[in-house]
Amino acid sequence: MRLLEALRIEKPILSAPMAGAAGPELVAAVCNAGGYGVIPLWGKTKEQVGTGIDELRELTDQNFAVNLNLSFPYVDQLEMCIEKGVHGVSLFWGMEPSAIERAKAGGLTVLSSVGTAEEARTATEAGADVIVAQGWEAGGHVWGKVSTLALVPAVVDAVDVPVVAAGGIADGRGMAAAIMLGASGVWIGTRLLASSEATIHEVYRKRILQASEDDTQWAHDLYDVAWPDAPHRALSNSTSQGWIDAGCSAPGQRPNEGEQIGRRPNGDPVVRYQSYTPLPETSGDVEAMSLWSGQGVSMVREIMPAADIIDEICQTAKRLLSSEQSALMFSK
Ligand SMILES: Cc1cc2nc3c(=O)[nH]c(=O)nc-3n(C[C@H](O)[C@H](O)[C@H](O)COP(=O)(O)O)c2cc1C
Repeated sequence: MRLLEALRIEKPILSAPMAGAAGPELVAAVCNAGGYGVIPLWGKTKEQVGTGIDELRELTDQNFAVNLNLSFPYVDQLEMCIEKGVHGVSLFWGMEPSAIERAKAGGLTVLSSVGTAEEARTATEAGADVIVAQGWEAGGHVWGKVSTLALVPAVVDAVDVPVVAAGGIADGRGMAAAIMLGASGVWIGTRLLASSEATIHEVYRKRILQASEDDTQWAHDLYDVAWPDAPHRALSNSTSQGWIDAGCSAPGQRPNEGEQIGRRPNGDPVVRYQSYTPLPETSGDVEAMSLWSGQGVSMVREIMPAADIIDEICQTAKRLLSSEQSALMFSK
């Protein structure tokens, strides 16, 4: 209940911010379904952050958070969140106590993404209200190296604020498991890539719907163009296979480096090894781009409205957590 109170929501499900894929329609749909939406607005100018907040407010009057990336310029963006009086800010890719303190002083609820219990302690000492424990199973950029199953209880034991579990949670079974580990809620990424509202290319969506749990690959610096030194998990594809065949060579020595493989909707080139989420209007060899995905992808088999995904996950988790389930498991 502490999470529901902190975020003033009805259902303890948060939509993972997914740069490119989670735009205002998806985030608003999650908010309007009783969850908490998180909109990625990092990499934008201060003015664009303001416009992004206004656009989302046109679609929902519920609480949401803005996701900022601490390894890119974030100070002006954070000030805009404060000026606009958004409910929350989600900080990832770095641990900056001063950013947490500034957000708190500005009246925001702070969600801090971590990969270890030690980071969770640092974040809560600086005032973070909610900790997002991101396990290694997660899709997209993956901060830590510990799996969700091991990370969540370690973080829960380390801090006295609500912990949200992220990474590999794609259905009600995962949600129930996370709650049994002590989490107060879940943060869903890959499953929501298969929502009607996600803004991803058809080729990417098809691969998500077909991929198995063994089809993703974690790499330290495969898709490092535009964002170096940032480990990530994506679907295996012709780019990752070519790189493996070449002996996982270091950046600068990989096959076809610098080759243009497509174009963004605005005409800008997309090059091989670029950190880029292909949008519906992206053109070129989309299969060869960074198709971010978590290991929970094998549970993602159908496109559904985000509200139905949220509802289904909650209903299943509720049923599994009821005493009926334990009666099935234990004879006494
Ligand atoms: C396509 C995609 C883009 C992502 N972009 C971001 C981002 O901009 N900010 C962020 O904090 N996390 C980002 N992530 C990571 C998610 O927040 C989350 O930790 C992850 O999706 C959880 O694991 P799951 O995919 O197994 O549900 C992204 C993940 C995906 C799949």
